[in-house]
Amino acid sequence: MAKIIDGKEIAGQIKAEVKAEVKDLLAHGIMVTLAVIQVGEDPASSVYVRNKKKTCEELGIRSRSYSLPQAASEEELLSLVGELNEDPEVDGILVQLPLPEQINEKAVLEAISPEKDVDGFHPCNVGALSCGEECFVPGTAAGIIELLVRSGIPIDGRECVVVGRSNIVGKPVAQLLLRENGTVTVAHSHTKNLREVTRRADILVAAVGRRRMIDASYIKPGAVVIDVGIHRDEKNKLCGDVDFESAASVASAITPVPGGVGPMTIAMLMRNCVESRRRRL
Ligand code: GUN
Repeated sequence: MAKIIDGKEIAGQIKAEVKAEVKDLLAHGIMVTLAVIQVGEDPASSVYVRNKKKTCEELGIRSRSYSLPQAASEEELLSLVGELNEDPEVDGILVQLPLPEQINEKAVLEAISPEKDVDGFHPCNVGALSCGEECFVPGTAAGIIELLVRSGIPIDGRECVVVGRSNIVGKPVAQLLLRENGTVTVAHSHTKNLREVTRRADILVAAVGRRRMIDASYIKPGAVVIDVGIHRDEKNKLCGDVDFESAASVASAITPVPGGVGPMTIAMLMRNCVESRRRRL
């Protein structure tokens, strides 16, 4: 049976480190501030936004909330982002995605100052990541690397297969694994013989967006499996892109859902907020 990689525990360690840094900054009269913008009331987004604000509070980071109506115009949102870019108190700006269809997501993400882009979605940060320069890295991708490193799982020289090529997870995690000297393959919906590809992996990252798709037949015995998915099953129970029971019977280590990658995303976002202030000091 595979070892369970406890994301809640590891996220707790990171949050404790961030909390200590926030306290240290506060002792110098510096308050770290994250601005969170939500447009509309998508229920999933509301849960994520609430959790981000709650975690800020827990760590002593000030959160400022901006809630725009579903019908808000792109100009309204761009104008708010512009104000926050100029506001010296604000360290991080987060626009919760997805945005309503009348708003061009690309234009909004590009309007956020790269120095305050704690989500790491601005093309400047994306480019810097691929050049191996200092930048903000998207929380989920950075969190996956932390899970591996803090669990003592080596990446250097190993076969890493990422299934999924999204801008938020697949592409950045592939870049990070490469930076750690992994041999990286990115598979996706057009990949032929997917099982043959995934069965090469020493480290398999599943970010497919399909409920329980990755079972034991996709996994080399002894591989490490990281599950990025989050879905509700037919019994309304949370599950991932990986069929946990099946995968755990062949993997050497695996992240559960919930309690694996999920808690890491917010912990890494909080770390980016403190990092933003440290860089600006
Ligand atoms: N929507 C889903 N994931 C994310 C994320 O990491 N950041 C933002 N801003 N929106 C999201």
